[in-house]
Amino acid sequence: MMGMKFEGREEKHRITVMAIFLAGACFLTYYCYVVLGTGRVFTHFFYIPIILASLWWKRKGLGVAVFLAALLIFSSIFFRAEVVAANDYLRAIMFIVIAFVVATLSEQIAKAEESLRESEEKYRNLYESSKDGIAFSDMQGNLLDANQAFLDMLGYTIEEYKKLTYQQLTPKKWHKMEADILKNHTMARGYSDEYKKEYIKKDGTVFPATIRIWLIKDKQGKPIGMWAIIRDIAERKQVEEKIKQYQQILEVSERASWHFSHRILSIREEEKKILSTILHDEVGTLAVALSSSLNAIEEEIKDNNLKAALKTIVKSKTVLRKAIQRLKKTAADLRPPDLDIVGLPVALREYLSNVTKQLDLKINFSMEIDEKKVPNNVAIVLYRIVQEALNNVVKHANARNMKVRLYSLGNKIELIIRDDGKGFDTGIISGGTTIHMGIRGMREMAESVDGRFHIKSAPGKGTDIHVTLPVIEEHKLWV
Ligand SMILES: Nc1ncnc2c1ncn2[C@@H]1O[C@H](COP(=O)(O)OP(=O)(O)OP(=O)(O)O)[C@@H](O)[C@H]1O
Ligand SMILES: [Mg+2]
Repeated sequence: MMGMKFEGREEKHRITVMAIFLAGACFLTYYCYVVLGTGRVFTHFFYIPIILASLWWKRKGLGVAVFLAALLIFSSIFFRAEVVAANDYLRAIMFIVIAFVVATLSEQIAKAEESLRESEEKYRNLYESSKDGIAFSDMQGNLLDANQAFLDMLGYTIEEYKKLTYQQLTPKKWHKMEADILKNHTMARGYSDEYKKEYIKKDGTVFPATIRIWLIKDKQGKPIGMWAIIRDIAERKQVEEKIKQYQQILEVSERASWHFSHRILSIREEEKKILSTILHDEVGTLAVALSSSLNAIEEEIKDNNLKAALKTIVKSKTVLRKAIQRLKKTAADLRPPDLDIVGLPVALREYLSNVTKQLDLKINFSMEIDEKKVPNNVAIVLYRIVQEALNNVVKHANARNMKVRLYSLGNKIELIIRDDGKGFDTGIISGGTTIHMGIRGMREMAESVDGRFHIKSAPGKGTDIHVTLPVIEEHKLWV
């Protein structure tokens, strides 16, 4: 809008100037013929409006030359009333030729200017809209100019930026490397390969970037400055870091799954061993013990020693009861209990009391949940976690007391297992390669039903396990 207004005013101004010149030409013609009576007009003056008109209006400006040529010819006829001098025709033709040449030249200049302006605008757009930073410096490193993208990366205004050198924007550790690149690549070949470095922002923080530099030379080929394209790669680095992290996680999971399959195989082996030991130790010993007891009873009855026989029977009953208890516990350890038949409280209580009977461990068990609201898969998870935690207490804790508390909180079930044993440094279970699978198994069981598992322990401080499981919907069964 502003430009159009300005152009409109300038055009009016040109028309006024031209009108004055044309009026001047008419007056000059009149003055020469009538007042001075020279019989000739001073036509050098005419060239001023002719050239101006051609410059301003290009070919349209030829109208002024035609008007002045006509003025010259007609005034010559009118005032001298004789045959028009040949040189008046010549002069009139000169007006038109000069106007034509000037108009053509000025048209060509305007076209060249326009295409220069267009290409300049194209490059300026590219420069300004580029997402990469573009920067110019002299050979000493004084910064001369930069596009908005680079200023945004750094956080400087153009005025602040121009007071700096590129060395000031670069952390010290990169100075030597960059000086070497400048000497061996940029100066030697006229450009550098893309390389990585860091820049210091106005706020003092540092960001990684890739940069490529070109030399600017004068007509004699002498280097007078450099320009560079800079790309902020902080995001790219982050993505690379993330990919690295994921790769590490993947490796760890692969290793873990390898451990798991090994573990499963060894568990199966262990189970077989346990079974054979049970059969051999428990059932075998029991059979031997019972058989010798029966022999003893037989002898005692034969001897009519009924009192002794009765005593042996009572002793045998105790041995038998203990053996049955041990077999029950082993069976419970080996297969999931029928929780839907006996119910979680009964199953847990029975399991815990079986363990306490054999050990010097006091277990305080409390349960305040509505059992009917606990889906079977959640009940199995709870049972298995208690079982695994108790195994650890027995195996590692050397504890005297253990507390198992199960209660509802809103739509969640909270399970708390606490022992006063020797505790341990939980750092040992955070490594991905751990061969200890018990705690990991507990966590995975909890997570398989969208629950959370938390363990807290320290040497000499006992161990706390806190499990939270949601119970609103039926979950997928954990296998
Ligand atoms: N209640 C506890 N008291 C003391 N130390 C414990 C307790 N629970 C676990 N630990 C320590 O944490 C380690 C990891 O336990 P985790 O159950 O994961 O594996 P594990 O019992 O060694 O082997 P697995 O359970 O695979 O047979 C144990 O080796 C033990 O050192
Ligand atoms: Mg364990």
